[in-house]
Amino acid sequence: MKKIFASVLAVLFVLGLSFSVNAIHEIIPSETQIVLPGPNAEKLNEYIIRDDPYRAWALWPEKGKLYKGTEPHGALLTTFVNNTASHSIKKKKGMADGSIIANENYTADKKFVALSVMYKIKGYNPEGGDWFWVKYSPDGKVEASGKVKGCIDCHSKQKDNDYIFTGKVKNR
Ligand code: HEC
Repeated sequence: MKKIFASVLAVLFVLGLSFSVNAIHEIIPSETQIVLPGPNAEKLNEYIIRDDPYRAWALWPEKGKLYKGTEPHGALLTTFVNNTASHSIKKKKGMADGSIIANENYTADKKFVALSVMYKIKGYNPEGGDWFWVKYSPDGKVEASGKVKGCIDCHSKQKDNDYIFTGKVKNR
């Protein structure tokens, strides 16, 4: 009798174990989620082209496609923001870690000439708002990346707005 009881317990234990393992499998979605790249322009390009294609992101709020831009980015611009950036723009508390802004640069006759990207990586460059800067050619070649002085010097004019020109992202 004792033996039967013990084996029933053992069976129940194994059943319970497999149930909880299955349950854990169901709750953790991370297996299917794609991890953001670090400060690496090639990996970031793969990410925004293949893993989470930037052309499927939202446009910068209230900016359409091919709106009027200024130097150095070009006469016409189309700016896409990933989910994290989109939420941050609404909250107006600065851009959260993981925000990506992809700014397509066009000539006046609508030729795509460059993709300028700002990617927020917490701890990457505290003196420069933790932005990772990249300029890609239209075919994805990296033309400049990292803590690019030219980008930072000019965008620093907007330091109070988390280095962003296109719209208000931070209540002062
Ligand atoms: C001389 C100033 C200047 C330099 C240099 C510059 N930018 Fe900009 N950037 C701007 C302005 C102004 C805008 C707003 C759009 C417009 O009017 O062209 C802008 C917009 C952007 C945006 C859209 C988000 C925002 O801040 O509004 C991104 C992304 C961006 N720039 C990336 C870059 C990168 C990457 C570099 C360096 C390779 C760079 N920029 C260099 C002036 C500059």
